[in-house]
Amino acid sequence: MENSVTNLLNIKYPIISAAMTWITSAEFVAAVSNAGGLGVLGPNAGQNKAASTPLENAENLRNEIRKVKQLTDKPFAVNYIFPMGSAIEDPFTSAIYDVLVEEEVKIVIAIGQSVIQNEVERLKKQNITIIYRDLNPTVEKLMEAEKSGVDALIVTGYEAGGHMSKFKISTLSLVPQVAKKVSLPVIAAGGIIDGDGAKAAFAMGAEAIYMGTRFIATTENPASISAKKAILTAKSEDFIEFKSGASHLRTLPTEAGKKALELINLGKADEAYTYYGNGFKLGLLDGDLTKGTISVSEAAGGITEILSCAEVINQIMKHLKQ
Ligand SMILES: Cc1cc2nc3c(=O)[nH]c(=O)nc-3n(C[C@H](O)[C@H](O)[C@H](O)COP(=O)(O)O)c2cc1C
Repeated sequence: MENSVTNLLNIKYPIISAAMTWITSAEFVAAVSNAGGLGVLGPNAGQNKAASTPLENAENLRNEIRKVKQLTDKPFAVNYIFPMGSAIEDPFTSAIYDVLVEEEVKIVIAIGQSVIQNEVERLKKQNITIIYRDLNPTVEKLMEAEKSGVDALIVTGYEAGGHMSKFKISTLSLVPQVAKKVSLPVIAAGGIIDGDGAKAAFAMGAEAIYMGTRFIATTENPASISAKKAILTAKSEDFIEFKSGASHLRTLPTEAGKKALELINLGKADEAYTYYGNGFKLGLLDGDLTKGTISVSEAAGGITEILSCAEVINQIMKHLKQ
């Protein structure tokens, strides 16, 4: 299946595994890329403890990039988080930028908006393909991003796992609106877990899909087996959502998630943070369903099997061709 996204990224199938903090690794990324999609290394890829300095964080990424290259000769990408707020330089971002250049990474999934122009210029000078994903996407913001010179746009609906948009706009509402207004290739994200979702995304003007939650429940994903099993039995109506400061999360109803929600409702945001601040690692990676959170898409209730990355991709492609 050839289209503007497969041509841009030089991949066989228009399926990208999303960047997910703690739960990507070289093995997982290579499995997606070897199956014809595009694997993406996320923050803390391949790690089980947080780096204590920007340099350690960047060196961990360098090692993981090198491992991916040993496991596949296919394209892959790295999640690159632009400095947030008004800062132009951020030590973590700077150290990662150096690694991207030194390791000749060809594609980034770029997040963050405030200094998009500076970052786009310096990445483009290195011939890096930039797929831009806005954390709080709107039609206007993505039209603005198009002007900055990025190569493709991920349009994320509110159904998505991970950080949730402050605008509660669903994939079904946002993707077609953006696709009509931009000429860059559109990649749909949020609530897509199978061939039906992929078909819908394509019908709305997307030319690729970006999936996180579905890829957690795969054999190669580094998430713990208990987190994967919890996704298989999850019911979409049971998920809990909470907003506290800049965090806006949906989680399976773990003890920590319920406690955080309770404290937020009582106005105790700082105390609540202790229950979800490190929750992705504790819940998803370590499998501690009491202390951790399991951030997922609203569509997670539809995931019933742990499959290999190749099976996920092949099933979707078979369905798309029907
Ligand atoms: C557990 C989890 C962690 C995530 N962490 C990140 C991250 O570190 N960086 C990022 O850009 N997006 C992150 N995301 C968002 C995904 O990249 C992607 O936008 C989302 O998973 C797509 O929606 P879906 O989960 O419905 O497929 C995360 C998503 C999940 C589920």
